[in-house]
Amino acid sequence: MRICICSDQSQIARVGANQFSEVMKENSKAVLGLATGSTPLPIYQELISRYKAGEISFAGAQAFCLDEYLGLPAGHPESYSSFIRREFTAQVDFDDTTVHLPAGQSPEGTFVAEEYDSQIAAAGGVDLQILGVGANGHIGFNEPGGSLDSKTHVGILAQKTREDNARFFDGDISQVPDKCVTQGLGTILKARKVLLVATGKQKAEAVAALVEGAVTSMWPASVLQAHNDALILVDEDAASLLKNKDRYTNSLVSPDDL
Ligand code: F6R
Repeated sequence: MRICICSDQSQIARVGANQFSEVMKENSKAVLGLATGSTPLPIYQELISRYKAGEISFAGAQAFCLDEYLGLPAGHPESYSSFIRREFTAQVDFDDTTVHLPAGQSPEGTFVAEEYDSQIAAAGGVDLQILGVGANGHIGFNEPGGSLDSKTHVGILAQKTREDNARFFDGDISQVPDKCVTQGLGTILKARKVLLVATGKQKAEAVAALVEGAVTSMWPASVLQAHNDALILVDEDAASLLKNKDRYTNSLVSPDDL
């Protein structure tokens, strides 16, 4: 696990986008694992700018999103299917038919959940997976207390997650679905590279737990300690509860090196 502490959002955007640029330079048909939510937006904005400047193309890439709500009407603006297209893939040259989400074919999502891991494997596996993290340590929608080796599955959103996400639903928690389909922790761990991004004080406890705590299903992101190519990209606020920063001699990397 490498940790990179950035001074501001623009540095996060640059370093995060560099990870995508590198992967796309190595393989123009790369498989990208995409997250929704607020955290990746500056990185997606930077990638859109690079695309417009002719510096990167996603024409040959494929995308597998991490998760999707269950129970929203098709085309709902806050479904992750709408979100990822609006905020990223439709603003660059992604072929829309290669943008996959783990829900949509059965009302309960179960059938699609079971198929999703096989679809990812058939595409060759994820080359780069970007992740945000919930204040309670979730990645994807793997809430505390699940299996560390789960596959894509139907899950129940934690109350804290629904409260946090109410901001996307006019601040009304009753509009936030309570069910989702999410890649499992075992699915996420199969990605060849992982980039977890966290910004703001509200993520500091989760970042400390994932970097310095025990590997436990109660802080699902801590499972990344078992991944051999994970970059944790944080701002000073999100890094503020890390106790041993000065001791990460092998793992603390400068934004200038990325
Ligand atoms: C989104 C996802 C979630 C978010 C997390 C943080 O696809 O899988 O794990 O990354 O809830 O959300 P934000 O970035 O909005 O704070």
